[in-house]
Amino acid sequence: MGEDRAFKQIGVVGLGSMGCGIAQVVAGNGYQVRAVDVEKRLVDEAISRLDRAFQKLVQKNLMEEHERSEVLARIEGGTDLGVLKDCDLVIEAIYEDREGKRKLFSQLVQICTEETVFASNTSTLSITSLVSNLDRPERFLGLHFFNPAPVMKLVEVVKTAATSQEVLASVLDFVKSLGKAPVVVRDQAGFLVNYLLTPYLFDSIRSLSSGLASVNDIDTGMRLGCGHPMGPLALADLIGLDVLLNAGNILFDEYREARYAPPPLLKRLVALGDLGAKSGRGFYDYKGEEKSKPRDLMGL
Ligand code: 3HC
Repeated sequence: MGEDRAFKQIGVVGLGSMGCGIAQVVAGNGYQVRAVDVEKRLVDEAISRLDRAFQKLVQKNLMEEHERSEVLARIEGGTDLGVLKDCDLVIEAIYEDREGKRKLFSQLVQICTEETVFASNTSTLSITSLVSNLDRPERFLGLHFFNPAPVMKLVEVVKTAATSQEVLASVLDFVKSLGKAPVVVRDQAGFLVNYLLTPYLFDSIRSLSSGLASVNDIDTGMRLGCGHPMGPLALADLIGLDVLLNAGNILFDEYREARYAPPPLLKRLVALGDLGAKSGRGFYDYKGEEKSKPRDLMGL
């Protein structure tokens, strides 16, 4: 597979849900993957999670049993950034923190070869702000996958003023080789999708707080009225309310527009530890017998 591919060995740093999803897609499409996180426990958990995801594909007859072991064998987990030194492309998917990402990239530039391309899966931070003052800025760009990464077709490819045309072209080929559709976007906070999506999600939360409609009615309205696969409040729960709050803070800091200001209800839910589907509670309750139950949060 893929003799003419520019990239063969791909590094993924940060094995949360996005990093794992990206590793799954990349290994599933024939690439060698070096998957790195800071603790062995996190790496082991990620490998088990990937194994379960591939087992599911076998159960659905979307993958043969022998392919499952071949794909898993292509993924090498570790805690040492040094294993990334021979990677053609390294995709960063750590927590959304500018200084954390800047520090990681400054280490990676020292470790990797001059040919390595570096990509960030940040959802909101401008790529330029992550790589300013680093060597080889022409080899950096954004590669923004959507949640859940194995399912969502879009990848935003974010080009800074310094990204070279050659790097952009090889990354676009890479994204297409994953069966994904790339869109090329200018480097600005939130890029294209989160720039448009965040105000919509925040307006939905404000509508709930103002008493316009219930959780269920807001989501049913947008699903059935606009043909969206899920309503905005269920989507907020899927993204993670803490992630959304952080995104709003970053976007508001950048644009200073009221539409990016996180709604008070979102802040209160996060303060209570209600972070969405991953914590068992957000705009919906995921702990009961039913798959998810809308909460009574209207007017709060
Ligand atoms: N990982 C892998 N596969 C998954 C999955 C996951 N986390 N969640 C669902 N799937 C698969 C299911 O296995 C199923 O596969 P099948 O058709 O082969 O059986 C398929 O997706 C459909 O899943 P379900 O039948 O369980 O449920 P739905 O039909 O409702 O689909 C959904 C679920 C794909 C999440 C769909 O509701 C959807 O597309 N929702 C919108 C998601 C979205 O907008 N994401 C973008 C978020 S914004 C973002 O990521 C930006 C970030 O920066 C914040």
